[in-house]
Amino acid sequence: MYKILEKRQLNSQVTWMTLDAPFIARKVQPGQFVIIRIDEKGERIPLTVADFNREKGTVTIIFQAAGFTTKKLAQMNVGDSILDCVGPLGMPTEIDNPKKAIVVGGGVGCAIAYPQAKALHNMGVETTVIAGFRNKDIVILEEEMRNVSDNYFITTDDGSYGQKGFVTEVLKALLEKDNYDLVIAIGPIPMMKFVAKTTEPFGVRTIVSLNPIMIDGTGMCGGCRVSVGGEIKFACVDGPDFDGHKVDFDELMRRNSFYREEEAHACRLEESING
Ligand SMILES: Cc1cc2nc3c(=O)[nH]c(=O)nc-3n(C[C@H](O)[C@H](O)[C@H](O)COP(=O)(O)OP(=O)(O)OC[C@H]3O[C@@H](n4cnc5c(N)ncnc54)[C@H](O)[C@@H]3O)c2cc1C
Ligand code: FES
Repeated sequence: MYKILEKRQLNSQVTWMTLDAPFIARKVQPGQFVIIRIDEKGERIPLTVADFNREKGTVTIIFQAAGFTTKKLAQMNVGDSILDCVGPLGMPTEIDNPKKAIVVGGGVGCAIAYPQAKALHNMGVETTVIAGFRNKDIVILEEEMRNVSDNYFITTDDGSYGQKGFVTEVLKALLEKDNYDLVIAIGPIPMMKFVAKTTEPFGVRTIVSLNPIMIDGTGMCGGCRVSVGGEIKFACVDGPDFDGHKVDFDELMRRNSFYREEEAHACRLEESING
């Protein structure tokens, strides 16, 4: 069992939770994730390790209440325990000693981008963070991101906070002014696609973190299949980070919407769980 030690609400939809998970905390690296199961009848869902403390033996997850399981998890409280937390899974992000890097986070993707920004900052890399949100009400991790970056930019689609517009506009302006050797982009698939398109003409190495449907998380089921540079990869074992200039984002979008109708029927899942 994995006890919930701390919990706070980052906005109305996003929860920050620290779990007692000493074996995972001992080994996890930025870019890796866990698969959790709340109880015996629960489904398995992947969540990135947003932070960890090796001494205290804790890992932090930050998740959006997107559907049945994440909503149920958001209702759990300090002192409750979840049944399974398997990890660390996936490959750590290959950071490769850049001098100047830009980390782009979109919405809850900022939670997944945070450990990357922190790792770059701790390595002494000049780190710029661009965080984009639909509006002011859903801004998360502003202070945390500012603390691990040399420059921090925030954009909102409606202009209610920071610069009005998309992260790609800030990114393009930065790339036109200066040289960077790494861009890491994590967020909705269209955002990652357009970040990769923006960086391509500048020839800047661009890492994206993919979020296909995952089931076992060990490379056995094939659920998380993605196409990268014309080759089939399994995001759970070969990723989730990939070269953004090689990913087939359109295929990923098609595959991720495959079960949308079934996922919308959470009530059926609830019925089967309860009885
Ligand atoms: C490697 C990885 C890391 C992730 N890290 C985070 C994170 O740190 N924070 C966060 O909020 N979300 C993260 N996600 C997405 C998270 O796994 C889904 O939001 C969650 O599974 C939704 O489950 P649900 O039952 O609440 O909602 P559902 O209604 O079942 O699904 C809502 C949406 O979530 C996605 N989803 C559903 N089931 C899965 C699954 N088994 N695997 C992957 N995606 C699924 C689909 O796009 C779906 O449309 C990550 C996904 C992956 C693949
Ligand atoms: S989740 Fe099954 S192969 Fe990746």
